[in-house]
Amino acid sequence: MRIAKCTNSDRLTCGVPKRQAIFTKPASNSPLPTAVGHKPLTAPPISRQTAQAAIRTMIRGQHLGLTLFRVIAATTVLLIVVGLLTVDVTADAEPSSAERWFASLLLNAKIRSIRPNKLSPLTQADEDLERGSELYEQRCGFCHGVARGKLAPFAKSFSPRPPQFVIKPAQGPTWRDAYVIQHGVRWTGMPAFRSLSEADAWRLALYVEGESNPNGKQ
Ligand code: HEC
Repeated sequence: MRIAKCTNSDRLTCGVPKRQAIFTKPASNSPLPTAVGHKPLTAPPISRQTAQAAIRTMIRGQHLGLTLFRVIAATTVLLIVVGLLTVDVTADAEPSSAERWFASLLLNAKIRSIRPNKLSPLTQADEDLERGSELYEQRCGFCHGVARGKLAPFAKSFSPRPPQFVIKPAQGPTWRDAYVIQHGVRWTGMPAFRSLSEADAWRLALYVEGESNPNGKQ
């Protein structure tokens, strides 16, 4: 720290450290010792060119990363579009096993997340399973099959195909089938039967499962 020299013209500031002296760089490159005598930490000096070059390299790296991300994203979208274009969208076509697997995975997860009532609304006393078979013949047979071992008229008219319960009974659980019967399955031919009571949905579910216990399959 430089101390202002005493001159006649500058009496007032005589002996007081000059303000500017604090902020100006010391003549030598070595840092000033602090009050307690430690040398403060200093970063090694970097030239302006080096700093600018480092920033340029960083920006170039970011540009490259962004371009790479765009290329990957565009390729993925293109592959998905091309993949979807090759899917046969007619109802004649059987869905592939991958589609079937993915759709049933999604449907199961969805129905489980809704947590429908798993307890049967039927009791041994009020069970009327005959009503299940009547309703089935009126509303379900033409898609799911009526005559034992014979395909329904609409068996091949929807994709995914309506399962033929007269050939292979539904697997349950009953609460899941009853839920599907009342609410239908979107993107398929399975309609929602909203006018059915919960009890009738359970009777139908028991019927298509070939189940006689009113508590159904869990
Ligand atoms: C217009 C045709 C059609 C009618 C009418 C119809 N269904 Fe369906 N149903 C389908 C189709 C298609 C599926 C397959 C949905 C799928 O793959 O997710 C299906 C699926 C189901 C399932 C789920 C099977 C499983 O194992 O996942 C049940 C249960 C069912 N139907 C019961 C019924 C009952 C009971 C009725 C009458 C009240 C009925 N359906 C009326 C077309 C129909």
